[in-house]
Amino acid sequence: MPDRLKLELSEKLFAKAVELIPGGSQTMSKRPQGYAPGAFPIYVERAKGCRVWDVDGNEYIDYIMALGPIVLGYCYPAVDSAIAAQLRKGIIYGLLHPLEVMAAQLICETVPCAEMVRFLKGGAEVTTAAARIARAYTGRELILNCGYRGWADQWTAQSTAESARGVPQCLRSTVQGFPYNDLPALEAILKERADEVALVFLDAVSGTAPDPGYLAGVRELCDRYGVLLAFDEIVTGFRLAPGGAQEHYGVTPDLACFAKGVANGMPLGVVCGKREIMSVAQDLIISVTYGGECLSLAAVCACLDEYRGKPVHQHLWAQGEKLMRGLAESGRRHGVPFDCTGLAPMACPRFSYPEAELNTDVWSLFLQETARRGVLIRRGGLLFVTYSHSDDDIEQTLQAADEALAIIAQAVKAGNVQDVLDVKDLREGFRRF
Ligand SMILES: Cc1ncc(COP(=O)(O)O)c(C=O)c1O
Repeated sequence: MPDRLKLELSEKLFAKAVELIPGGSQTMSKRPQGYAPGAFPIYVERAKGCRVWDVDGNEYIDYIMALGPIVLGYCYPAVDSAIAAQLRKGIIYGLLHPLEVMAAQLICETVPCAEMVRFLKGGAEVTTAAARIARAYTGRELILNCGYRGWADQWTAQSTAESARGVPQCLRSTVQGFPYNDLPALEAILKERADEVALVFLDAVSGTAPDPGYLAGVRELCDRYGVLLAFDEIVTGFRLAPGGAQEHYGVTPDLACFAKGVANGMPLGVVCGKREIMSVAQDLIISVTYGGECLSLAAVCACLDEYRGKPVHQHLWAQGEKLMRGLAESGRRHGVPFDCTGLAPMACPRFSYPEAELNTDVWSLFLQETARRGVLIRRGGLLFVTYSHSDDDIEQTLQAADEALAIIAQAVKAGNVQDVLDVKDLREGFRRF
């Protein structure tokens, strides 16, 4: 194991990137400042299964997994062959392609709420389409929203962050936030404003698991007050179960949005739902050039075959549970307040020192020490296990995390966490609202 990771090429590239690309990256959550700059790789060269190799030649077991899209593993043979076979026939055409029908059929067979489907390209596109469909169907404008729905104006309007400049203020009144796992708070808003509400929109699960009965309670409130319910399944979809959180919890929304895990990394977004509601999309301007792009549609068909035909989800739960258990045990063994919240296929690790600054530094040290030991974890993010994470990979990860936590325990005790950090220029990364 190196004393310090060799990261020269990564750092050289990023120095060039910030001159050419505002912020240096296309995705805020991938900016190096959000990880452990100076002690963590920035550029990937290639990946296979659950492993990635950075441009400096270091190898890692990955839990960032492109921020969620990779469910089966990188370069998963069945998906890559489907893409390659389609590539030989063409990527996109001026007429429709049968894959649009095949993929829609498979989604409708797999996702409980799906009776009709539209394909777009990313998460923000499908959540925006769901909002438009709900508003057109109900003739109402207000959306009650809990969680991140993407970068589009109407979602960013909820934020007061500096990064939300540029969004028309008038949009603020069209979306109102509500807290997760708090049925009385949602009911209080509905009591007052139900006749203005087009849609209640939430992540069925994020870093926090729903309290028992919470999702069924939300469904019941929406029915009682006559408003539509949409689940954002962009992270949970095809990860918790083939049919997403709605299958796992047995609660069926009116509309749902999928992206990320739907096509193992290919850019595809899905908005789907009940026929009567989705039908209004026929007369709406919800239209993108690349919606029928066939490499992604070939990928989604291949993915759904795997999700439905192989024990993919049992594997994600089993490996995630081993991780969650092992990490909490290590935390206890070393007297470090470290554990995971949320659900096993997308567990959310956290340090709970009372001092916020110490938590920030300890995260940096954890990332530094696990990366040196060949494991990539995202600061404060979810641990994305895949069908390609083997028992050996999990064991190696737990060993790396255990050693990192031992170093943290020692540094906290000695009061010298900052002194043992190779991390530089740690500014606040991308914060969601
Ligand atoms: C729950 C959720 N919804 C929506 C989005 C937006 O997706 P995209 O980045 O593909 O626009 C994300 C992205 O992280 C997400 O996690």
